[in-house]
Amino acid sequence: MGVSLRSHLEKLLKSGQLARIKKRVSAEFELGALLNKTKGTLPTFFDDVKGYQMPVVGGLCGDRDLIGGFLGADKKELIPAILAAMSNPLPARLVPAGPCQEHVITNNIDLLKLLPIPKFHEKDAGHFITGGIILVRDPVLGRYFTSIRRMQFQSGNKLSVLIESPGLLEMYYQKEKQNQPLEFVILIGVHPVLTLTSQLNTQLYGLDKLGVAGALLGESVEMVKAKTVDLEVPAQTEIVLEGRMLPHKRMTEGPFGELAGYYGPASEQPYAEITAVTHRSNPIFQAIFPSSYEHKLPNAIMREVTLYLHVRHLVPSVKEVHVTMAGSGRFHAVISIAKRYEGEGKSAIMAALAANKDYKHVVVVNDDVDIWDPYDVEWAIATRVQADEDVVIIPPARGCSLEPSNNIRGVSAKMGIDATYPLAYADQFERVRIPGYDAISLEDYLEA
Ligand SMILES: Cc1cc2nc3c(=O)[nH]c(=O)nc-3n(C[C@H](O)[C@H](O)[C@H](O)COP(=O)(O)O)c2cc1C
Repeated sequence: MGVSLRSHLEKLLKSGQLARIKKRVSAEFELGALLNKTKGTLPTFFDDVKGYQMPVVGGLCGDRDLIGGFLGADKKELIPAILAAMSNPLPARLVPAGPCQEHVITNNIDLLKLLPIPKFHEKDAGHFITGGIILVRDPVLGRYFTSIRRMQFQSGNKLSVLIESPGLLEMYYQKEKQNQPLEFVILIGVHPVLTLTSQLNTQLYGLDKLGVAGALLGESVEMVKAKTVDLEVPAQTEIVLEGRMLPHKRMTEGPFGELAGYYGPASEQPYAEITAVTHRSNPIFQAIFPSSYEHKLPNAIMREVTLYLHVRHLVPSVKEVHVTMAGSGRFHAVISIAKRYEGEGKSAIMAALAANKDYKHVVVVNDDVDIWDPYDVEWAIATRVQADEDVVIIPPARGCSLEPSNNIRGVSAKMGIDATYPLAYADQFERVRIPGYDAISLEDYLEA
């Protein structure tokens, strides 16, 4: 049958993990507000969206336990599971037909009439598709390339696309140089493994992301031929928008409330024309609330994979890495090491800051600190750091355009905090301990 959003929702429903909202909600502000009440951590199904026949789902990828659930791995074992899939991808395979083409629309396409595309924030320029995966064929490698890009509904069959990371932009520029459009399909409503793997860094790994998705799912993603472009589409997708990004055409995109919780400015971005909308019977639209955990976490987990590999290169005893949600899933990292040599804390800082231009502040701790607990991390900073020796500041380097303090000067200073203790004084940093503590449960002692 193949893996699908539906099969995933059924599992969530059976295990009591899917919240269902039957009350009528508006796609303008109300639906987004509800998704944001739980920061996108609660799988939520909206049965009745005002003015539409189509239900909407969100909150599928905003929680590590949920992601661990569909990867079949403990939330602390995500990196090994993803690395194993990256080493042994299971390529997608073509099948003759699939449910994503049960209905095909090629004439008089009006995307906002067809689809409950939400408007999220007060000053957003309009309605935005935020949970759509754009799939293209890499013109050099010939492989599928998937990534999520927000798309602003402009009018009728027209969308503008915000492309920030270089992978897709380079492909678009190559086609533009040849005066040719870049063909794409946009996938709305997919199994969350596809959402997660779309965040793999292609530049670094050159991977076929659908192949990694297949390995994680334990079966190849089934593809069918698209109707109006020379591409294939995952057969189980709820809604597919086929189209072309036109060369030498730009449209004003934004402002839009972005990842870090600020409005990104309007800018001129590539422009796409949709040539066909295909969908399953009774399709489900998928939305991701911008700046929610669901917006940050899939990307943060893939950054953790890269970060782990970079740090391990210099510090083989690295234990865990955590790209935090409050750091917008890209500005802050916490790393634990089983320190064996003096200086390894600083080495880990150098490796981390070099792993991606977006990191601003990195904290390195010993492996007796729980890097998933902000209290424990702050405790280590408070009790193990002397700022004159343990804080490293790099003068402004490249930063991230999603961050306003970077944008006021166009560059970003970087800081590393080495919160590991000096090995020679290890005995002074021994944590207090109560024998048998974990086996003692307060509930067993409280009166009913
Ligand atoms: C919900 C969500 C929305 C995103 N929106 C955008 C976007 O609008 N523009 C963009 O360039 N990247 C966006 N990203 C990040 C890209 O999808 C991500 O960087 C992807 O890994 C790009 O692939 P690449 O590294 O192979 O180029 C988004 C990610 C998520 C999870």
